[in-house]
Amino acid sequence: MLNNFPLWPEQASTMAHRVDALYIFLLIVAGLMALLVCTLIIYFAARYRRRPGIRAEQIEGSNALEITWSVIPFLVFMVIFAWGAVVYFKERTPPADATEVYVVAKQWMWKVEHAEGQREINELHVPVGRDVKLIMTSQDVIHSFFIPAFRIKQDVLPGRYTVEWFHATKPGTYHLFCAEYCGTQHSGMVGSIVVLEPAQYEAWINGGPNGPLSATGEKIFAELGCSTCHRSDVQGRGPNLEGVFGKPVQLEDGRTVTADENYLRECILDPGSKRVKGFQPIMPTFQGLVNEEQVNALVAYIKSISTLKSAPSSRTTARAASASDANEQAATHTNRSQVQQ
Ligand code: CUA
Repeated sequence: MLNNFPLWPEQASTMAHRVDALYIFLLIVAGLMALLVCTLIIYFAARYRRRPGIRAEQIEGSNALEITWSVIPFLVFMVIFAWGAVVYFKERTPPADATEVYVVAKQWMWKVEHAEGQREINELHVPVGRDVKLIMTSQDVIHSFFIPAFRIKQDVLPGRYTVEWFHATKPGTYHLFCAEYCGTQHSGMVGSIVVLEPAQYEAWINGGPNGPLSATGEKIFAELGCSTCHRSDVQGRGPNLEGVFGKPVQLEDGRTVTADENYLRECILDPGSKRVKGFQPIMPTFQGLVNEEQVNALVAYIKSISTLKSAPSSRTTARAASASDANEQAATHTNRSQVQQ
């Protein structure tokens, strides 16, 4: 019955019930309020209608009434505020051990890179029953990564990372939309989220030709010469990056920041802005020398040498990278031909 008349998209994540419950509560409160107002209008219109021989009287205020209609709405709004805040913080706080996936948006497609090395375009394969964290950036304008069935939506901005997470509860294929107007083919910037059973997912994630993203990053790190200054064996001209991720960093200007994804990204693209205490400003910017995927790979590499669980491998991924570029061109081409039709 309800399936034939869907008021809501399917509920396919742990967040869906939370968001829907709050939404239904708001609808009920608003509905009851509207009903109350309508009923009173009709009742008063009849009760106090104009009748011959009866004259209107002036009424001076009523404290009891005014306190009642102030306190009750206040309590209702506080319930909405507290409930909304709880849902919001749940949605904004990714669990620490979530599977990480990098997303790069561009006009007009979604490029996805898994830590294991799989790359996809306008598709995202994830396992059911596991926390997944998306680390997202854009290489041009503002986009927004929206999965209605998971009840999550987050703007994707150029020049920084934003994050969203979900825990899919049902295998299946769900819509992915861009929810921020981003140009001519904004409406075509769609895709699918494929939620797989754990065994299927393992087969899928290990089925590709690519090495881990961190290995790609390690290779770029060596190619760009980063490893000549950022050494782990002896004191180099740049800070030793081993174990840095997630830790507080003392800056030259006295501030202390946490070495998160956004900090690493900023250091690569604008090294002067948050220089580590005790080091000379000798690092050149890599803005324009590395693309968003390469920044992601570098960040993944620096993270991998900060966590003992994943030892970086050195499988080469040049072949994988060029295959992905070909896919990207094919996808762009498809978009164009769709417009011409
Ligand atoms: Cu991308 Cu709208």
